[in-house]
Amino acid sequence: MAPRAVLIGPPGSGKSTIASRLATLWHVERRDTDDDIESRAGKAIADIFVEDGEPAFRALEREAVAEAVAHHDGVLALGGGAVLAPETQELLESYTRDGGAVVFLDVSLAAAAPRVGLNASRPLLVGNPRARWVALMDERRPVYERLATLTVSTDKVTPAQVAAHIAAAV
Ligand code: S3P
Repeated sequence: MAPRAVLIGPPGSGKSTIASRLATLWHVERRDTDDDIESRAGKAIADIFVEDGEPAFRALEREAVAEAVAHHDGVLALGGGAVLAPETQELLESYTRDGGAVVFLDVSLAAAAPRVGLNASRPLLVGNPRARWVALMDERRPVYERLATLTVSTDKVTPAQVAAHIAAAV
C-alpha cells in the first residue's frame, strides 16, 4: 500500500508546507481540508467565519474531513481545530487502526508566530493573537497527543527536514 499520513497541529505548525514536501518525497497526492472547504463554500475561510459563523464552518469542516479521510490515500493536512470534533477523532482512530500515520506537528509560540503572522487578523486569533494561540494550543494539545502515532517538533528545522524525518519514521 502507498504510504499515507494525516498531519495535525495548530496554526503555524507548518502542516500545509510539510504536507507538500512529504507528498513529493512519497510521490503521492497532497490534500488540505482548508482548501476543500474554501472550494465547496466558494469563499475564504475568514469570510465563512464572519458571514456564517464558526458552527457553520465546523460543520463544513466535519464533512470535508470525513470525505478526505475516506477517499484520499496520500498526505492529508487538517485545519488546526478539526480534531476537536468527536466524529473526526473517531475517524482518525480508525485510520490509524488501518495502518495510517497521524502526525502531530508540535510547535512553540515563538516559532508559530512569524509563520502565521499572529499580528494579522485570523478568525480565531482576533483580539490578542498570541494569547488566543496559546489558549487554543493548551486546549488542543492533549487531543493532538492522544491521536498522534508520531509527534515531530517543527521548531528550528526546515519543512524539508521534518518531511524527511516523517518519511523515515513511518
Ligand atoms: C483553525 C485553523 C485554520 C482554519 C480555521 C480554523 C483552527 O487552519 O481551519 O481558520 O481552529 O485552528 P490552519 O491550522 O491551517 O491555520
